[in-house]
Amino acid sequence: MAVRRLRLGVLASGRGSNLGAICAAIDRGELPAEVAVVAGNRPEAPAFERARARGVPVVVATRAEYKTRAEQQRALLTALRRHSVDLVVLAGFDQILTDEFIAAFRDRLINVHPSLLPAFAGTLHAQADALAHGVKIAGCTVHFVTETVDAGPIILQAAVPVQEDDTAENLADRILEQEHRILPAAIRLFAENRLRVEGRRVRILAEPSPAPDED
Ligand code: GRF
Repeated sequence: MAVRRLRLGVLASGRGSNLGAICAAIDRGELPAEVAVVAGNRPEAPAFERARARGVPVVVATRAEYKTRAEQQRALLTALRRHSVDLVVLAGFDQILTDEFIAAFRDRLINVHPSLLPAFAGTLHAQADALAHGVKIAGCTVHFVTETVDAGPIILQAAVPVQEDDTAENLADRILEQEHRILPAAIRLFAENRLRVEGRRVRILAEPSPAPDED
């Protein structure tokens, strides 16, 4: 069955290695998608360089340019709509989204977080927190975004065993390798229309199913 190419809007604030992993999966022919736009809040973010190098449009709306966070995020929303985005991927975006933004992309908005949720939710240093807490298994999670930070239905997770000599940095590096695997994998499942949200659970269908506008 032909799977329609999904139009992705990626929101990023920093390095952009997850954006790079998405692009690499597309280039390998593993992801029936294209990055339609990369948007964010920090003009200096290396993620934007990656996007520009690929010819992907970049939209930046800094917090300082707008009176409120709601207005700033409305500018991001407008850009995503203008580029007819099907799925929004938070790939290291460091702002909490407004309810208005989340409602606009309900069930079409996913995030990658560097912990096995619900552990270490709502922090920008989940890997260091996991190490400090003494966990033996760390990891990462891709989940749908809802109004409660890092609490939406879980799509995929990967476990990363903690080693005796781990520092926060090398644990974060091993977790990142797994993020780069499960984020494109989750996008692929979405593109194949294989995700069904049932309350807190996301069921993964064994077979791709046609999108509503496709027969
Ligand atoms: C990742 O660890 C992601 O889980 C977290 O922010 C980091 C982004 O890394 N939300 P990058 O910008 O994709 O390299």
